[in-house]
Amino acid sequence: MSHTLPEEVLITEVGPRDGLQNEKQPVATDIKVSLCERLLAAGVSQLEVTSFVSPKWVPQMADAAQVLAQLPRRAGLTLSALTPNMKGFEAALASGVDEVVIFGAASEAFSMRNTNCSVAESIERFRPVAEQARAHGIRLRAAISVAFGCPYQGAVPIDSVIDLVRRTRDLGCDEIGIADTIGVATVGHVKTVFEAAAREVPLASLSGHFHDTYGQAVANVYGCLEVGVHRFDSAIAGLGGCPYAKGATGNVATEDLVWLFQGLGIKTGLNLDALIESGSWISEQIGRRYSSRVGAALAARRATAEAQTS
Ligand code: HMG
Ligand code: MG
Repeated sequence: MSHTLPEEVLITEVGPRDGLQNEKQPVATDIKVSLCERLLAAGVSQLEVTSFVSPKWVPQMADAAQVLAQLPRRAGLTLSALTPNMKGFEAALASGVDEVVIFGAASEAFSMRNTNCSVAESIERFRPVAEQARAHGIRLRAAISVAFGCPYQGAVPIDSVIDLVRRTRDLGCDEIGIADTIGVATVGHVKTVFEAAAREVPLASLSGHFHDTYGQAVANVYGCLEVGVHRFDSAIAGLGGCPYAKGATGNVATEDLVWLFQGLGIKTGLNLDALIESGSWISEQIGRRYSSRVGAALAARRATAEAQTS
């Protein structure tokens, strides 16, 4: 099944959350807020800001409420946060988020490591979150981790992914993100999984979340486009990783996705130059090499041009 490419895609920027959650050195709240402000100025309209999780498990997200308190709210802007249980949901609600994200795993082993409970238990924790999200008019998104491979179990059967798609659909999720947590997926596998998922839920409610560990993320996004998926997560500067998926590197870089979409004439609403400034800024702030391939190439081209004119 090959779809006509869409006119526009919806990108959820996950840099402040997925991008920073795994940083060993504490990143100051002010830097997180400034990153969010820069991303909003670059046109981001769906921003995954933080997580309301145990600060003992993920210390980097301990300032979730402080970050959210300093961000603007406006029509057309969706600020979201991860909420694994009611404790997280209540804190997210008090912080005025527009969207909460429940996150489950397609393998029992990853579910235990990431959330200290079985897949079935995680669904029971999500149930009241889903009910309360609906009651408060908060958008509900699910993330399905390790859908293409698990660092503990290895191969993940497609049936386990589809089982979780059905269970999260039955909770009433507005969006279900299928995630390649450890970045091992290749495009044929991606298309098979998304085609199977699209038999369970409307295509418009599916999104792709690709880590780029094996350099396949842009190809995987293109595979999703061919299936008809038009929602994607990405992280500025390709930051990211999950504390419970050792060796997994960052998300696909937002800059790299925007370059892909620009080349295809697909609208993103994002300003590539502003993204590159944000990406190189945050990389410098946290002492990392700027790892968006597109961002680094365009920044180098600009530096050469400036040197020639000065
Ligand atoms: P637990 O230990 O089973 O929970 O953790 P508990 O209910 O037994 O509570 C134990 C302690 O945690 C208590 O505190 C609770 O108050 C506290 P204590 O009495 O010991 O001081 N607690 C909380 N504190 C703050 N916020 C909360 C919360 N819940 C309990 N919401 C839990 C269960 C899920 C909380 C824990 O396992 C956890 O926080 N895990 C973190 C998981 C995580 O953030 N992983 C990374 C994000 S997922 C990801 O990156 C994947 C994704 O990008 C997609 C992909 O790429 O795959 C989304
Ligand atoms: Mg992730």
